[in-house]
Amino acid sequence: AAVSEDNLRSPICCIMGHVDTGKTKLLDNIRKTKVQDAEAGGITQQIGATFFPVEAIKQKTAALQKTMNLQYKLPGLLVIDTPGHESFTNLRSRGSSLCDIAILVVDIMHGLEPQTLESLRLLRAKRAPFVVALNKIDRCYSWKTCPDSPIRDALAQQNEHVIREFEDRAKKIMVEFAEQGLNAEVYWRNKDLGRTVSLIPTSAISGEGVPDMLMMLTKLTQERMSKSLAFVDILQCTVLEVKVIEGLGTTIDTILVNGSLSEGQTIVVCTLEGPVVSTIRSLLTPHPMKEIRVKGEYIHHQTIKAAMGVKICAQGLEKAVAGTQIHVVGPDDDIEELKDAVMSDLTNILDSVQATKRGVMVQASTLGALEALLEFLRTCDPPIPVACVNIGPVHKKDVVRASVQLEHNKEYATILAFDVKIQNDANELATELGVRIFTADIIYHLFDQFTAYMDNIKQ
Ligand code: GTP
Ligand code: MG
Ligand code: NA
Repeated sequence: AAVSEDNLRSPICCIMGHVDTGKTKLLDNIRKTKVQDAEAGGITQQIGATFFPVEAIKQKTAALQKTMNLQYKLPGLLVIDTPGHESFTNLRSRGSSLCDIAILVVDIMHGLEPQTLESLRLLRAKRAPFVVALNKIDRCYSWKTCPDSPIRDALAQQNEHVIREFEDRAKKIMVEFAEQGLNAEVYWRNKDLGRTVSLIPTSAISGEGVPDMLMMLTKLTQERMSKSLAFVDILQCTVLEVKVIEGLGTTIDTILVNGSLSEGQTIVVCTLEGPVVSTIRSLLTPHPMKEIRVKGEYIHHQTIKAAMGVKICAQGLEKAVAGTQIHVVGPDDDIEELKDAVMSDLTNILDSVQATKRGVMVQASTLGALEALLEFLRTCDPPIPVACVNIGPVHKKDVVRASVQLEHNKEYATILAFDVKIQNDANELATELGVRIFTADIIYHLFDQFTAYMDNIKQ
């Protein structure tokens, strides 16, 4: 494949940080959407993806064009939203493993927090360049709102004591970065982009600093990464989620990280019932500036180039497993080898669990959610032992599997169901057999329910 700096793919930018620092709200501000308002408990529990075409970025950075004189060479930016809650280390890790660059969001009122440090570790391990959004600048006492304004213009409108509060907080955060062995500096004073991390004050609510954040991302990717962003036709495509869409049937949401996909291609996909070979019937994307996690209208494509959030329609994908890689069968490929390759992620996880005889059954919507839940149950206090796992809705056969525990460990005859539906007949059978099913769409609520139940038994 031709490698050329004139044929660049869109970089993938991962937005990371501690819970509730404003990652999703920042994206909502750029998109002018309300994704965060609709999240259960106001927390993100899945990886999201939004494509920002270069035209939109140009428009949003127009106010800075005079001072910065930016050139735009990239087709756009694919931004991946990640959860900040401590339970989702695996999704942060998956997000960061996909990214070329990142925005690390820090609440200017709180400074560096545990998942900020964890995100830092992931980004440094990946050697991904990043900028820091010092978000919630509007919480500085008596901040004057200047909607969507470049941050220096907004600061110029503030009283002296607001400037002082901002400078004090920024300085404190620079010290915290220094403690992590990192030089950090407010971006307009940063003379060495290669060695010093840029701090960009932002407000996700009123939009101050958002143009600066987009401008710095563009600068960073174009000046420092154009070689690694040269388009290469080697497929890397990760399943995010399986969704049934009216009129389309079962579809899978994916992140196309590298290479391209076309209608009619033969793909091999990891499913709970083994590898499935299928044909791409159609390729859809959400409209630009829309989150793939949110239901909406789609654009049909014959071919799509990376990077992009892509919905694939093909037969037999009902049991596709989120977090696994899709392979396209080329003329020289051995299908049997590809089948083994796609199944390896899932096999690893299932094998690691089924070692314990006594424990609860855990069921989750995606491989990612399952990994998160298992990690959470393993590290919580007291840890909850897990005997078996499954992905997808709870069926009668899952209840039967959980009921095995009734004989020796009655309290473990329990299904912890995260973000999945319970079939009616499964519920009935559970009642009949005495298997408990706890459901939640917030991961730690399952722990709370189960521990409350255990405490109850002990009394
Ligand atoms: P997780 O995905 O759950 O880790 O959270 P997040 O980082 O995506 O934060 P989210 O967008 O959910 O915002 C958390 C809360 O902070 C919400 O109540 C937001 O309204 C609020 N918030 C986010 N950004 C700002 C900001 O710039 N200023 C103010 N005042 N509030 C903000
Ligand atoms: Mg979020
Ligand atoms: Na949140």
